[in-house]
Amino acid sequence: MDRLFIFDTTLRDGEQVPGCQLNTIEKIQVAQALEALGVDVIEAGFPISSPGDFNSVVEISKAVSEPIICGLTRAVEKDIEVAADALKYAKRKRIHTGIGTSDYHIKYKFNSTQDEVIERAIKAVKYAKRYVEDVEFYAEDAGRTDNEYLAKVVQAVINAGATVVNIPDTTGYCLPTEYGAKIKYLIDHVDMKNAILSTHCHQDLGMATANSVMGVLNGARQVEVTINGIGERAGNTSLEEVVMAIKSHKELNIETNINTKKIYPTSRMISSLMNMPIQPNKAIVGRNAFAHSSGIHQDGVLKNLSTYEIIDPKDVGIEDNAIVLTARSGRAALKNRLNLLGIEVDDDQLAEIYQRFLELADRKKDITDEDVLILAGHKTDHMRRIKLEYLQVTSGVGIRNIANVGLDIAGVKFEGSATGNGPVDAALKAIKSIVKRETVLQEFLIQAINRGSDDVGKVHMQVEYDGRIYYGFAAHTDIVVASAEAFINAANKFVK
Ligand code: KIV
Ligand code: ZN
Repeated sequence: MDRLFIFDTTLRDGEQVPGCQLNTIEKIQVAQALEALGVDVIEAGFPISSPGDFNSVVEISKAVSEPIICGLTRAVEKDIEVAADALKYAKRKRIHTGIGTSDYHIKYKFNSTQDEVIERAIKAVKYAKRYVEDVEFYAEDAGRTDNEYLAKVVQAVINAGATVVNIPDTTGYCLPTEYGAKIKYLIDHVDMKNAILSTHCHQDLGMATANSVMGVLNGARQVEVTINGIGERAGNTSLEEVVMAIKSHKELNIETNINTKKIYPTSRMISSLMNMPIQPNKAIVGRNAFAHSSGIHQDGVLKNLSTYEIIDPKDVGIEDNAIVLTARSGRAALKNRLNLLGIEVDDDQLAEIYQRFLELADRKKDITDEDVLILAGHKTDHMRRIKLEYLQVTSGVGIRNIANVGLDIAGVKFEGSATGNGPVDAALKAIKSIVKRETVLQEFLIQAINRGSDDVGKVHMQVEYDGRIYYGFAAHTDIVVASAEAFINAANKFVK
């Protein structure tokens, strides 16, 4: 098996997205999650760009020990000195320096010549080598750089000591065949000695994953990626897509160090920390990535997963494939859901329930478990043992946040109150004072459905109880109520 190195740039290229900036503590959390995921390199920031970035690289270097910590620079001595300083605590460190090599960059950005750019590239690599052994060079806009000239640049920086040479498709312009051919040209025309080539593809034309995989097929042995494909403009290559493409195609004989079971939790964590929702149909990590809604597919998946699923959702850390009941679902899917809800039916009963199901599904987009129970003539109360009777919260600045809550649990009334560091915290603590279970809130995401301050807030929550994750959801114009209802929604799944 050949080893493919995973270089994660969520905290550098990914974090450049407007509105997604993280503070140092959050960046450390992300870096630790990336370490647990098994990435080989973490690009922790661009140290000269701001004191915040510098500090984050310093703190991540202290907090994380397994992956190589990398700092970005331009081909400028001061940048390299500052990056070396920021990396001083890293156990394993790398400086990532480089310069634009396309005619667009040479002419319009630097007003320079090809020969001068090669000189600057060599100087930068040699300078970085004074500080660290591991130096990666990027040929910015390599996607639009003439291959012959690019090969000269790559050879020159390897001779100067570069251990990795990054071939970025900075503008996301290349076609997969073109990018693959570029990597092959370099492999064939450069003496690679102890260096490897790296892909760094952007998503402007939606081809980042295809381009990265083509790079790998043609000899690149490192891919630069971000979780959920976040990044400026249309984003970067998604870690999860490349890793699962490589893993699914065993015939490639290539392996990564990624613990794929951690992909989904890491993706959710980063989405919520960066306030960047994941599109529902996003490959691998989208809410619908494993949700089968057509009758034919549902029937097949229920008979054998391999009929319509190329990846076992459990392999990426998703506990179940979701069979979504809609007007297009068949009898098999409905029967399966009834069985999961503990209801056994014979063929006649199924036919009757199915008829009513189709009528309802014509009027309602998604059929919930409660709907199915009603259709089957079962009471729904046991599904919602816990109900929110009332919630009163006092919050603001300069006062204590206090919540009083009333719950109905299987017909018995309970009251509780608590203080917290905010209204949501107080409300959840008040509920927990009644529902006495050791729970940990693993994910908490508030999203507006539309725009405007009068909007409905949706709360998605993942609550860990007794080693399992329970999902809770609620929507309300009051986000504190939505949060309380989402917690109760999750609690109803584990409080029997
Ligand atoms: O897209 C790009 O070219 C980059 C480089 C700075 C590596 O992000
Ligand atoms: Zn980039």
